[in-house]
Amino acid sequence: MNILITGAGKGIGFYLVKKMLSLAKPNDKIFAVSRNISNIQELKNEDSHNNLVIIKADITNQDHINTIIQTISSYCNGLNFLINNAAQLLNKSFLQIEFEEMDRVMKTNFYAPFMLTQKLFKLLSNTESSHIVNISSMGAIQGAAKFPGLSVYSSSKAALACLTECLAEEFKDTNIKVNALCLGAVNTEMLREAFPQYTAQINPEEIVEFISDFAFNAAKVMNGKLIQVALSTP
Ligand SMILES: NC(=O)c1ccc[n+]([C@@H]2O[C@H](COP(=O)([O-])OP(=O)(O)OC[C@H]3O[C@@H](n4cnc5c(N)ncnc54)[C@H](OP(=O)(O)O)[C@@H]3O)[C@@H](O)[C@H]2O)c1
Repeated sequence: MNILITGAGKGIGFYLVKKMLSLAKPNDKIFAVSRNISNIQELKNEDSHNNLVIIKADITNQDHINTIIQTISSYCNGLNFLINNAAQLLNKSFLQIEFEEMDRVMKTNFYAPFMLTQKLFKLLSNTESSHIVNISSMGAIQGAAKFPGLSVYSSSKAALACLTECLAEEFKDTNIKVNALCLGAVNTEMLREAFPQYTAQINPEEIVEFISDFAFNAAKVMNGKLIQVALSTP
């Protein structure tokens, strides 16, 4: 099995790579993408079967996306799991937001997973079954609590959630399933940036147990679904 995880440098993505590594069989490949790779490099100590392939890349850069595709293709013919996890937060009042700030968030959280998925289509098609898991947010869900300062971030996550449904439709005659996990609060740097005073009940080590299980098993029973993963129902 071959897995690509974006945003693997820290937070949920980092612990997801660690979890996948602990489950990997000798021929599996886990492609871990991030701009900052120093933390992931430390996981090489836990990589006795050479499962881990670290790709230093900025997913908003089209040349880097091409490098990601080339790197995966140099190791294998097909990709079974794509976890679109990388994202950026902007915590700023709506009236103060500059276009460049909005552009950075939308490029990372929406355009990048869009283009990456498009360019990975061939590799994802080349397997018996593939599962794309888009990591969205409770902020994307209609009727869930909204917070001042998070207008661009939450909107970008809503766009990713909608893309999930659209792709499930476009890919319905293929081997590829697409689902989104709309996460509630998890203790990471991103949460601290969004809510400096708040400590969540869930740590990244805990949420990745669910995400890995979902990635491996959910595509057998669902497609195009937006799953709320939160302890409360705001
Ligand atoms: N934590 C929460 O409470 C929470 C709640 C709902 C949803 N989520 C979602 O969960 C996912 C993980 O969030 P997190 O809390 O773990 O955030 P985080 O700690 O800030 O980690 C984000 C990751 O994305 C990477 N990244 C950002 N821009 C990138 C780019 N252009 N190219 C490649 N990698 C990039 C970062 O690494 P580099 O900067 O080194 O590239 C980092 O590894 C995100 O999609 C987030 O929206 C989180």
